[in-house]
Amino acid sequence: MDILVTGGAGYIGSVVVEQLLEKGHAVTVYDNLSKGHRDAVHPDAQFVQGDVADGGTLSQILNRNNIEAVIHMAASSLVGESVQFPEKYRQNNVVAGQVLLDGMASCGVDKIVFSSTAAVYGEPERQPIVESLRTEPTNPYGETKLEFEGLLKRYAEDVGLRFASLRYFNAAGATQRNGERHDPETHLIPLVLKAVLGQIPHVEVFGTDYPTRDGTCVRDYIHVVDLARAHILALDVLDARSEIYNLGCGGDGYTVREVIDTASAVTGVLIPEKLSGRRAGDPAVLVASSQKIKRELGWEPEFQDLGLIIESAWSWLKGEQGAVRTARQASE
Ligand code: UFG
Repeated sequence: MDILVTGGAGYIGSVVVEQLLEKGHAVTVYDNLSKGHRDAVHPDAQFVQGDVADGGTLSQILNRNNIEAVIHMAASSLVGESVQFPEKYRQNNVVAGQVLLDGMASCGVDKIVFSSTAAVYGEPERQPIVESLRTEPTNPYGETKLEFEGLLKRYAEDVGLRFASLRYFNAAGATQRNGERHDPETHLIPLVLKAVLGQIPHVEVFGTDYPTRDGTCVRDYIHVVDLARAHILALDVLDARSEIYNLGCGGDGYTVREVIDTASAVTGVLIPEKLSGRRAGDPAVLVASSQKIKRELGWEPEFQDLGLIIESAWSWLKGEQGAVRTARQASE
């Protein structure tokens, strides 16, 4: 299939592109590089630098490259930042998203896989979270992702769009080619590994008084490879229908403390930490039920063990540090 991946230069997008190419799809990556990295785009994918809000360029690509389906991953995705700049989130995640849907409608492209988020649920009373639970986001990030899901439903009714909305829990880990590099970094696992490398003095533990097994927040970490595989499976659904799926590993999840301890065991380094107060907007526990996608699409996570997930992130990061050092030496 000819597939357009918006945000394909980002962390998760670059891994989705790797897998699409492995499956023999023709891939066009569309990314404005505001967060993504040009060198994360696989050389076998066609790259176009551009903004989702630019409907003219988008329509040109949809037509010229005979695009049959879109995987829409370009978005602003930081909870804290969304509280500070809600308008930016509305613009990038809803307004620009609608430009994409209009472009698809006018070019006759009727299939889309969308990167949604567990943040649409807010602070649910029941865990694990099933798709039918009430959606009550507690921050503009979750609100805007939910709003876009609403647009998907409207376009499905009005113009026959078919969509799969994948509500991600906490993506982590790396492939050999691609891993997590945000600037600034706010996510727990990359920060823990930065502390191992001495690039930051300690890991800050946000809150030790949550009603959890050790007082720190519980999250459901899913390997980026497993997450990406779900996109490939979801593409097949779109011939027939539209669906929403949660994507996490389930189980008991892992606390912040368990993440730090596991990273210590993987790297052999005692990680310095600093206990801090709660971070605004953090729910105590977010654990997915992924029964629906397992049942309907036969999806199974390959990496359920946090040690393996962190090990992959650590191998990638060490390779990345090596490459940076070599480049620096070459320029000296
Ligand atoms: N945490 C710390 N110290 C840090 C960073 C994080 O203690 O320095 C804690 C957080 O408080 C949280 C957990 O580690 O309890 C995970 O935090 P992340 O920032 O890594 O991830 P979030 O759970 O906040 O958010 C991620 C994505 C969102 C997505 C959400 C869904 O960034 O886009 O998962 O679960 F919505």
